[in-house]
Amino acid sequence: MARHLSRLFLFIICGFLCISCSNTDPNKDMNQAKPKIEKQPFGKTSDGQAVDLYTLTNTGGVEVKITNYGGTVVSLKVPDRNGHKADVVLGHDNLDGYMTNNPYFGSIIGRYGNRIGKGRFSLNGQEYTLAKNNGENHLHGGIKGFDKVVWEAKEIDDKDGAGLSLNYVSKDGEEGYPGNLSVTVVYTLTDDNELKIDYTAATDKDTVVNLTHHSYFNLAGEGSILDHELMLEAGRFTPVDTGLIPTGELRSVKGTPMDFTQPTAIGARIDDDYEQLVLGKGYDHNWALESGGGKLSLAARVSEPKAGRVMEVYTTEPGIQFYTGNFLDGSITGKGGQVYQRRYGFCLETQHFPDSPNKPDFPSTLLKPGRKYMTTTVYKFSAK
Ligand code: GLA
Repeated sequence: MARHLSRLFLFIICGFLCISCSNTDPNKDMNQAKPKIEKQPFGKTSDGQAVDLYTLTNTGGVEVKITNYGGTVVSLKVPDRNGHKADVVLGHDNLDGYMTNNPYFGSIIGRYGNRIGKGRFSLNGQEYTLAKNNGENHLHGGIKGFDKVVWEAKEIDDKDGAGLSLNYVSKDGEEGYPGNLSVTVVYTLTDDNELKIDYTAATDKDTVVNLTHHSYFNLAGEGSILDHELMLEAGRFTPVDTGLIPTGELRSVKGTPMDFTQPTAIGARIDDDYEQLVLGKGYDHNWALESGGGKLSLAARVSEPKAGRVMEVYTTEPGIQFYTGNFLDGSITGKGGQVYQRRYGFCLETQHFPDSPNKPDFPSTLLKPGRKYMTTTVYKFSAK
Protein backbone atom coordinates (compact mmCIF):
# COMPACT_ATOMS: atom_id res chain seq x y z
CA MET A 1 0.00 0.00 0.00
CA ALA A 2 2.71 2.42 1.07
CA ARG A 3 4.64 1.50 -2.09
CA HIS A 4 1.55 2.18 -4.17
CA LEU A 5 1.03 5.49 -2.49
CA SER A 6 4.61 6.59 -2.99
CA ARG A 7 4.38 5.59 -6.69
CA LEU A 8 1.19 7.60 -7.02
CA PHE A 9 2.90 10.52 -5.31
CA LEU A 10 5.86 10.28 -7.70
CA PHE A 11 3.47 10.08 -10.65
CA ILE A 12 1.65 13.22 -9.49
CA ILE A 13 4.94 15.09 -8.93
CA CYS A 14 6.23 14.11 -12.39
CA GLY A 15 2.95 15.14 -13.98
CA PHE A 16 3.08 18.47 -12.19
CA LEU A 17 6.68 19.03 -13.28
CA CYS A 18 5.78 18.20 -16.87
CA ILE A 19 2.88 20.64 -16.85
CA SER A 20 5.03 23.38 -15.36
CA CYS A 21 7.78 22.61 -17.92
CA SER A 22 5.35 22.84 -20.78
CA ASN A 23 4.02 26.07 -19.28
CA THR A 24 7.39 27.80 -19.02
CA ASP A 25 9.01 26.40 -22.13
CA PRO A 26 7.04 28.38 -24.69
CA ASN A 27 7.95 31.61 -22.89
CA LYS A 28 11.57 30.62 -22.74
CA ASP A 29 11.54 29.81 -26.43
CA MET A 30 9.84 33.09 -27.14
CA ASN A 31 12.58 34.95 -25.26
CA GLN A 32 15.32 33.08 -27.06
CA ALA A 33 13.65 33.61 -30.40
CA LYS A 34 13.08 37.30 -29.71
CA PRO A 35 14.52 39.10 -32.73
CA LYS A 36 17.69 40.96 -31.96
CA ILE A 37 17.34 42.89 -35.16
CA GLU A 38 14.15 44.50 -36.39
CA LYS A 39 13.44 46.47 -39.53
CA GLN A 40 11.08 49.36 -40.14
CA PRO A 41 10.67 51.83 -43.01
CA PHE A 42 12.61 55.09 -42.63
CA GLY A 43 11.28 56.97 -45.65
CA LYS A 44 12.35 57.70 -49.20
CA THR A 45 15.34 59.56 -50.58
CA SER A 46 14.77 62.55 -52.88
CA ASP A 47 15.20 60.24 -55.88
CA GLY A 48 12.52 57.88 -54.56
CA GLN A 49 14.59 55.06 -53.05
CA ALA A 50 13.01 53.49 -49.97
CA VAL A 51 15.33 53.15 -46.99
CA ASP A 52 14.93 51.28 -43.73
CA LEU A 53 15.85 51.65 -40.10
CA TYR A 54 17.25 48.58 -38.34
CA THR A 55 17.17 48.23 -34.56
CA LEU A 56 19.76 45.98 -32.97
CA THR A 57 19.48 45.05 -29.29
CA ASN A 58 21.60 42.96 -26.96
CA THR A 59 21.27 41.48 -23.46
CA GLY A 60 23.44 44.24 -21.95
CA GLY A 61 20.77 46.89 -22.50
CA VAL A 62 22.40 48.50 -25.52
CA GLU A 63 20.25 49.42 -28.51
CA VAL A 64 21.52 50.77 -31.81
CA LYS A 65 19.50 52.03 -34.75
CA ILE A 66 21.14 52.07 -38.17
CA THR A 67 19.76 53.14 -41.53
CA ASN A 68 21.02 51.94 -44.89
CA TYR A 69 21.01 55.58 -46.04
CA GLY A 70 24.72 56.36 -45.64
CA GLY A 71 25.14 53.34 -43.33
CA THR A 72 24.24 55.84 -40.64
CA VAL A 73 24.06 55.13 -36.92
CA VAL A 74 20.92 57.06 -36.01
CA SER A 75 20.82 56.33 -32.29
CA LEU A 76 22.88 54.40 -29.77
CA LYS A 77 21.37 53.90 -26.34
CA VAL A 78 23.77 52.92 -23.59
CA PRO A 79 23.21 52.47 -19.81
CA ASP A 80 25.08 54.59 -17.27
CA ARG A 81 26.37 53.43 -13.86
CA ASN A 82 22.78 53.34 -12.53
CA GLY A 83 21.37 51.57 -15.55
CA HIS A 84 19.81 54.74 -16.97
CA LYS A 85 19.97 54.77 -20.74
CA ALA A 86 20.85 57.74 -22.89
CA ASP A 87 21.35 58.16 -26.59
CA VAL A 88 25.08 58.85 -26.90
CA VAL A 89 25.23 59.95 -30.55
CA LEU A 90 24.11 63.15 -32.25
CA GLY A 91 21.74 62.93 -35.18
CA HIS A 92 18.27 63.52 -36.56
CA ASP A 93 14.83 62.09 -35.85
CA ASN A 94 14.09 61.44 -39.49
CA LEU A 95 15.62 60.77 -42.89
CA ASP A 96 14.94 64.29 -44.08
CA GLY A 97 17.34 65.67 -41.46
CA TYR A 98 20.08 63.35 -42.67
CA MET A 99 19.51 64.33 -46.29
CA THR A 100 19.40 68.08 -45.77
CA ASN A 101 21.52 69.09 -42.80
CA ASN A 102 24.09 66.56 -41.88
CA PRO A 103 27.76 67.17 -41.01
CA TYR A 104 28.32 63.39 -41.31
CA PHE A 105 26.39 62.50 -38.11
CA GLY A 106 26.81 58.72 -37.70
CA SER A 107 27.86 58.17 -41.32
CA ILE A 108 30.06 55.66 -43.05
CA ILE A 109 32.73 57.68 -44.85
CA GLY A 110 34.34 56.70 -48.12
CA ARG A 111 35.87 56.16 -50.55
CA TYR A 112 38.47 58.20 -48.67
CA GLY A 113 37.83 59.37 -45.10
CA ASN A 114 39.28 62.80 -44.27
CA ARG A 115 41.18 65.10 -46.63
CA ILE A 116 43.15 64.73 -49.83
CA GLY A 117 45.15 67.89 -50.50
CA LYS A 118 44.04 69.99 -53.50
CA GLY A 119 41.68 67.17 -54.46
CA ARG A 120 44.22 65.28 -56.48
CA PHE A 121 46.70 62.44 -56.39
CA SER A 122 48.80 60.39 -58.81
CA LEU A 123 48.74 56.67 -59.23
CA ASN A 124 50.88 54.71 -61.70
CA GLY A 125 51.85 57.99 -63.36
CA GLN A 126 48.28 59.14 -63.90
CA GLU A 127 46.80 62.12 -62.10
CA TYR A 128 43.28 61.80 -60.69
CA THR A 129 41.14 64.83 -59.92
CA LEU A 130 38.58 64.67 -57.15
CA ALA A 131 35.83 67.03 -56.09
CA LYS A 132 37.00 69.99 -54.00
CA ASN A 133 34.31 70.13 -51.36
CA ASN A 134 36.36 71.63 -48.52
CA GLY A 135 38.02 74.82 -49.70
CA GLU A 136 40.66 73.71 -52.18
CA ASN A 137 40.70 70.20 -50.71
CA HIS A 138 38.72 66.99 -51.01
CA LEU A 139 36.91 65.81 -47.85
CA HIS A 140 35.21 62.54 -46.86
CA GLY A 141 34.80 61.06 -50.34
CA GLY A 142 33.52 64.14 -52.13
CA ILE A 143 30.17 65.68 -52.98
CA LYS A 144 28.24 62.43 -52.87
CA GLY A 145 30.35 60.23 -50.64
CA PHE A 146 29.36 56.90 -49.10
CA ASP A 147 27.45 58.85 -46.41
CA LYS A 148 24.88 59.93 -49.02
CA VAL A 149 24.23 56.69 -50.89
CA VAL A 150 21.73 53.92 -50.26
CA TRP A 151 23.42 50.69 -49.21
CA GLU A 152 22.00 47.23 -49.86
CA ALA A 153 21.21 45.77 -46.46
CA LYS A 154 21.15 42.20 -45.14
CA GLU A 155 20.18 41.26 -41.60
CA ILE A 156 22.42 38.91 -39.63
CA ASP A 157 21.59 37.17 -36.35
CA ASP A 158 24.42 34.84 -35.41
CA LYS A 159 26.43 33.75 -32.40
CA ASP A 160 28.43 37.01 -32.26
CA GLY A 161 25.26 39.09 -31.90
CA ALA A 162 22.82 40.89 -34.11
CA GLY A 163 24.31 42.41 -37.21
CA LEU A 164 23.62 44.41 -40.30
CA SER A 165 25.61 43.83 -43.45
CA LEU A 166 25.70 46.76 -45.88
CA ASN A 167 26.98 46.59 -49.41
CA TYR A 168 27.70 49.34 -51.92
CA VAL A 169 29.37 49.26 -55.30
CA SER A 170 31.14 52.50 -56.10
CA LYS A 171 31.55 52.84 -59.86
CA ASP A 172 34.84 53.45 -61.66
CA GLY A 173 35.22 57.24 -61.83
CA GLU A 174 32.72 57.98 -59.04
CA GLU A 175 33.78 61.25 -57.37
CA GLY A 176 36.94 60.98 -59.49
CA TYR A 177 38.33 57.73 -58.03
CA PRO A 178 39.62 54.94 -60.28
CA GLY A 179 38.22 51.40 -60.21
CA ASN A 180 34.90 49.75 -59.46
CA LEU A 181 35.00 49.26 -55.71
CA SER A 182 32.73 46.78 -53.96
CA VAL A 183 32.43 47.67 -50.28
CA THR A 184 30.88 45.74 -47.41
CA VAL A 185 30.44 47.19 -43.95
CA VAL A 186 29.13 44.90 -41.22
CA TYR A 187 27.86 46.40 -37.99
CA THR A 188 27.58 43.86 -35.15
CA LEU A 189 26.21 44.53 -31.68
CA THR A 190 27.71 41.97 -29.31
CA ASP A 191 26.49 40.96 -25.86
CA ASP A 192 29.68 42.55 -24.49
CA ASN A 193 28.24 45.96 -25.37
CA GLU A 194 30.47 46.38 -28.37
CA LEU A 195 29.48 47.96 -31.64
CA LYS A 196 31.86 46.27 -34.03
CA ILE A 197 32.40 47.55 -37.56
CA ASP A 198 34.09 45.31 -40.12
CA TYR A 199 34.97 46.97 -43.40
CA THR A 200 35.98 45.02 -46.51
CA ALA A 201 36.48 46.15 -50.09
CA ALA A 202 37.79 44.91 -53.40
CA THR A 203 38.63 46.77 -56.61
CA ASP A 204 39.17 45.98 -60.28
CA LYS A 205 41.80 48.75 -60.80
CA ASP A 206 44.46 50.27 -58.54
CA THR A 207 42.73 52.77 -56.27
CA VAL A 208 42.93 54.39 -52.83
CA VAL A 209 40.61 53.42 -49.97
CA ASN A 210 40.24 54.75 -46.43
CA LEU A 211 36.91 53.93 -44.80
CA THR A 212 35.76 55.24 -41.45
CA HIS A 213 32.77 55.90 -39.24
CA HIS A 214 31.73 59.41 -38.23
CA SER A 215 29.49 59.23 -35.14
CA TYR A 216 29.54 62.31 -32.95
CA PHE A 217 29.52 60.93 -29.42
CA ASN A 218 28.30 62.57 -26.26
CA LEU A 219 28.47 60.11 -23.39
CA ALA A 220 26.23 62.30 -21.21
CA GLY A 221 23.56 62.28 -23.91
CA GLU A 222 23.42 66.09 -24.02
CA GLY A 223 25.38 69.30 -23.49
CA SER A 224 29.05 70.00 -23.92
CA ILE A 225 31.66 67.24 -24.20
CA LEU A 226 34.44 69.34 -22.67
CA ASP A 227 34.34 67.54 -19.30
CA HIS A 228 34.71 64.08 -20.88
CA GLU A 229 38.13 62.58 -20.19
CA LEU A 230 40.10 61.19 -23.10
CA MET A 231 43.07 58.86 -23.30
CA LEU A 232 44.73 58.18 -26.65
CA GLU A 233 47.22 55.36 -27.20
CA ALA A 234 49.37 57.69 -29.25
CA GLY A 235 52.60 59.53 -28.60
CA ARG A 236 52.65 61.36 -31.95
CA PHE A 237 50.26 63.24 -34.19
CA THR A 238 50.33 64.63 -37.73
CA PRO A 239 50.42 68.47 -37.63
CA VAL A 240 48.39 70.24 -40.31
CA ASP A 241 48.53 73.38 -42.45
CA THR A 242 45.82 76.04 -42.69
CA GLY A 243 43.65 73.75 -44.87
CA LEU A 244 43.99 70.93 -42.26
CA ILE A 245 46.21 68.91 -44.61
CA PRO A 246 49.06 67.11 -42.80
CA THR A 247 52.43 68.71 -43.43
CA GLY A 248 54.06 65.27 -43.46
CA GLU A 249 55.66 65.73 -40.04
CA LEU A 250 55.04 63.22 -37.25
CA ARG A 251 55.34 65.25 -34.05
CA SER A 252 55.69 64.06 -30.46
CA VAL A 253 52.76 65.12 -28.25
CA LYS A 254 55.12 65.61 -25.30
CA GLY A 255 54.70 68.96 -23.61
CA THR A 256 51.82 69.97 -25.92
CA PRO A 257 48.01 70.14 -25.49
CA MET A 258 47.87 67.20 -27.92
CA ASP A 259 49.16 64.88 -25.20
CA PHE A 260 46.35 62.51 -24.16
CA THR A 261 48.64 59.67 -23.13
CA GLN A 262 47.18 60.18 -19.61
CA PRO A 263 43.38 60.62 -19.26
CA THR A 264 42.70 64.36 -19.55
CA ALA A 265 39.53 66.43 -19.81
CA ILE A 266 38.91 67.31 -23.45
CA GLY A 267 38.33 70.94 -22.48
CA ALA A 268 41.39 71.32 -20.23
CA ARG A 269 43.64 72.79 -22.95
CA ILE A 270 41.38 73.05 -26.02
CA ASP A 271 41.59 76.85 -26.16
CA ASP A 272 45.33 77.04 -25.48
CA ASP A 273 47.30 79.33 -27.72
CA TYR A 274 48.95 76.40 -29.50
CA GLU A 275 49.28 76.88 -33.26
CA GLN A 276 47.74 73.48 -34.12
CA LEU A 277 44.68 74.11 -31.94
CA VAL A 278 44.25 77.54 -33.48
CA LEU A 279 44.37 76.04 -37.00
CA GLY A 280 41.89 73.29 -36.09
CA LYS A 281 39.64 75.65 -34.08
CA GLY A 282 40.06 72.97 -31.42
CA TYR A 283 41.03 69.34 -31.86
CA ASP A 284 40.68 68.15 -35.46
CA HIS A 285 43.81 66.09 -35.96
CA ASN A 286 45.09 62.64 -36.71
CA TRP A 287 47.05 60.80 -34.04
CA ALA A 288 49.48 58.04 -35.03
CA LEU A 289 48.54 55.05 -32.91
CA GLU A 290 51.26 53.18 -31.02
CA SER A 291 50.07 49.88 -32.47
CA GLY A 292 51.00 51.06 -35.96
CA GLY A 293 47.88 49.29 -37.23
CA GLY A 294 47.28 45.76 -38.47
CA LYS A 295 46.25 44.21 -35.15
CA LEU A 296 43.04 45.04 -33.26
CA SER A 297 44.38 47.23 -30.42
CA LEU A 298 43.10 49.76 -27.94
CA ALA A 299 43.25 53.22 -29.50
CA ALA A 300 41.22 55.44 -27.17
CA ARG A 301 39.22 55.50 -23.97
CA VAL A 302 36.71 58.23 -23.10
CA SER A 303 34.85 58.55 -19.82
CA GLU A 304 32.10 60.87 -18.80
CA PRO A 305 32.46 61.75 -15.10
CA LYS A 306 28.83 62.43 -14.08
CA ALA A 307 26.89 59.41 -15.38
CA GLY A 308 30.01 57.24 -15.61
CA ARG A 309 29.66 55.96 -19.18
CA VAL A 310 32.91 54.80 -20.72
CA MET A 311 33.69 54.16 -24.37
CA GLU A 312 36.76 52.32 -25.59
CA VAL A 313 37.82 52.29 -29.20
CA TYR A 314 39.78 49.37 -30.63
CA THR A 315 41.01 49.35 -34.18
CA THR A 316 43.26 47.70 -36.74
CA GLU A 317 43.89 51.14 -38.29
CA PRO A 318 47.16 53.03 -37.75
CA GLY A 319 45.50 56.40 -37.08
CA ILE A 320 42.61 58.13 -35.36
CA GLN A 321 41.07 61.53 -36.08
CA PHE A 322 39.92 63.22 -32.91
CA TYR A 323 37.48 65.98 -33.81
CA THR A 324 35.67 68.04 -31.18
CA GLY A 325 32.66 69.30 -33.15
CA ASN A 326 34.32 72.69 -33.64
CA PHE A 327 32.15 73.47 -36.67
CA LEU A 328 28.85 72.86 -34.86
CA ASP A 329 27.41 76.28 -34.20
CA GLY A 330 23.85 75.88 -32.96
CA SER A 331 22.40 76.00 -36.48
CA ILE A 332 21.38 72.33 -36.42
CA THR A 333 18.43 71.18 -34.34
CA GLY A 334 18.63 67.43 -34.03
CA LYS A 335 16.94 64.58 -32.18
CA GLY A 336 14.21 65.55 -29.76
CA GLY A 337 14.71 69.25 -30.54
CA GLN A 338 18.28 69.31 -29.20
CA VAL A 339 20.26 72.27 -30.50
CA TYR A 340 23.78 71.16 -31.29
CA GLN A 341 26.14 73.85 -30.11
CA ARG A 342 29.88 73.97 -30.68
CA ARG A 343 31.64 71.03 -29.02
CA TYR A 344 28.47 69.14 -28.11
CA GLY A 345 29.86 66.01 -29.75
CA PHE A 346 33.25 64.46 -30.46
CA CYS A 347 34.33 62.05 -33.20
CA LEU A 348 36.96 59.33 -33.02
CA GLU A 349 37.42 58.38 -36.65
CA THR A 350 39.74 55.40 -37.02
CA GLN A 351 41.61 55.71 -40.28
CA HIS A 352 44.76 55.81 -42.35
CA PHE A 353 46.38 59.22 -42.17
CA PRO A 354 44.79 62.09 -44.12
CA ASP A 355 46.32 62.88 -47.52
CA SER A 356 48.21 59.56 -47.60
CA PRO A 357 47.91 59.30 -51.41
CA ASN A 358 50.21 62.36 -51.56
CA LYS A 359 52.46 61.37 -48.66
CA PRO A 360 54.71 58.45 -49.62
CA ASP A 361 56.03 58.21 -46.03
CA PHE A 362 52.59 57.58 -44.52
CA PRO A 363 51.15 54.03 -44.34
CA SER A 364 49.79 53.25 -47.80
CA THR A 365 46.10 53.46 -48.73
CA LEU A 366 46.62 51.80 -52.11
CA LEU A 367 44.32 48.88 -52.95
CA LYS A 368 45.17 46.63 -55.86
CA PRO A 369 42.90 44.20 -57.72
CA GLY A 370 43.07 40.73 -56.20
CA ARG A 371 43.83 42.13 -52.72
CA LYS A 372 41.21 42.55 -50.01
CA TYR A 373 40.85 45.73 -47.98
CA MET A 374 39.98 44.64 -44.45
CA THR A 375 39.78 46.73 -41.28
CA THR A 376 37.92 46.45 -37.99
CA THR A 377 36.95 49.01 -35.39
CA VAL A 378 35.12 48.34 -32.13
CA TYR A 379 33.35 50.90 -29.95
CA LYS A 380 32.93 49.24 -26.56
CA PHE A 381 30.67 50.66 -23.85
CA SER A 382 30.70 50.22 -20.08
CA ALA A 383 30.10 52.31 -16.97
CA LYS A 384 32.14 53.05 -13.84
C1 GLA B 1 36.07 65.53 -39.91
C2 GLA B 1 37.00 66.61 -40.27
C3 GLA B 1 36.53 67.91 -39.74
C4 GLA B 1 35.12 68.19 -40.19
C5 GLA B 1 34.23 67.06 -39.82
C6 GLA B 1 32.85 67.25 -40.37
O1 GLA B 1 36.22 65.13 -38.64
O2 GLA B 1 38.32 66.35 -39.88
O3 GLA B 1 37.36 68.93 -40.12
O4 GLA B 1 35.11 68.36 -41.57
O5 GLA B 1 34.75 65.85 -40.28
O6 GLA B 1 32.34 68.49 -40.09
